[in-house]
Amino acid sequence: MKKTIVVLTGAGVSAESGIATFRGSGGLWNGYSIEDVATPQGWHANPEMVLEFYNERRKDAAKAEPNAAHRALAKLEKAYDVQVITQNVDDLHERGGSTNVLHLHGILRQVRSTTHPNLVYDIGDKAIKLGDTCEKGGQLRPHIVWFGEAVPMIERAVRIASKADIFIVIGTSLVVYPAASLIHYVPKFAPKYLVDPNIGGVDGVSNLTIFQKKATEGVTELVDKLLGEV
Ligand code: OAD
Repeated sequence: MKKTIVVLTGAGVSAESGIATFRGSGGLWNGYSIEDVATPQGWHANPEMVLEFYNERRKDAAKAEPNAAHRALAKLEKAYDVQVITQNVDDLHERGGSTNVLHLHGILRQVRSTTHPNLVYDIGDKAIKLGDTCEKGGQLRPHIVWFGEAVPMIERAVRIASKADIFIVIGTSLVVYPAASLIHYVPKFAPKYLVDPNIGGVDGVSNLTIFQKKATEGVTELVDKLLGEV
C-alpha cells in the first residue's frame, strides 16, 4: 500500500512564480494593508477597492506559471498518495499537476453570493465589480477566507493531517491559525519536513528535518529523496 504524504503550503511555494508573499514586504500585501482588503470590515468599508484588489490578484495568478516546486510535488504522486493542503488562493498546484488540493483559504478563481453563500461560481481569470450578482440578486464577493471569518475546510484538513505517514511544510510563516496548528495533529512518529529559507513556528515538533532553502531547490531535493525511499 502506498504511504500517505500530506503537504501544507503557504505563499512561499509560489514566490518563485512571481506571486508576492504576505509578510515579506513590511506588513503590506502588494501595497495594501491586510485589514483593508482581507477582513469583513474592509469589505464593508470599501467593497469596490476590495473587488479591484482581488481582480488584480486573479490576473497576476492567471499569468503566473507553476514552478519547479509545484511540479516536483506532482511527481510524488507516482509513488505516494499525496494530499496538498494549501493556504494559497492561486491554482498553481493544480496547474503544476497535483490532483488532490484542498484550499484552506479559498481560491481566486471562485466567487460567491453575499446573500446566498452556497452559490459559488467559477469565473476563471475574469474581473467582478459592484453590481455583479448571483442569480438571486446578491452581490458577488471573492470566495476567500478573510481574517475574522471561519475556515470551513479546517476540520477536513485536521482529519487528513492526522492520517499522514509523512508531513511536509513549505513556504509558510506558520503564524496564521488554524492552519498553523495542523502540524500538531500529525502523528508523533511520522517524519516531518520543513522547506523555507526562514525557519519558525516549529518549536516542539518531533521528527523534523529542515531544508533551509527556497522552495524550488529544497522541494526538488526532498522529492528526489522521498522517491528514492520507495
Ligand atoms: P507568509 O507571507 O506569512 O509567509 C511566507 C513564507 O514563505 C515565509 O516563511 C517565508 O520565509 C517563505 N518564503 C519566502 N520565499 C520563499 C521561497 N522562495 N521558497 C520557500 N519559502 C519562501 O505567507 P503564509 O504563511 O502563506 O491568509 O500566510 C498565511 C496566510 O496569511 C495566507 O494564507 C493569507 C495571509 O494573510 C488569507 O488570505 C486568509
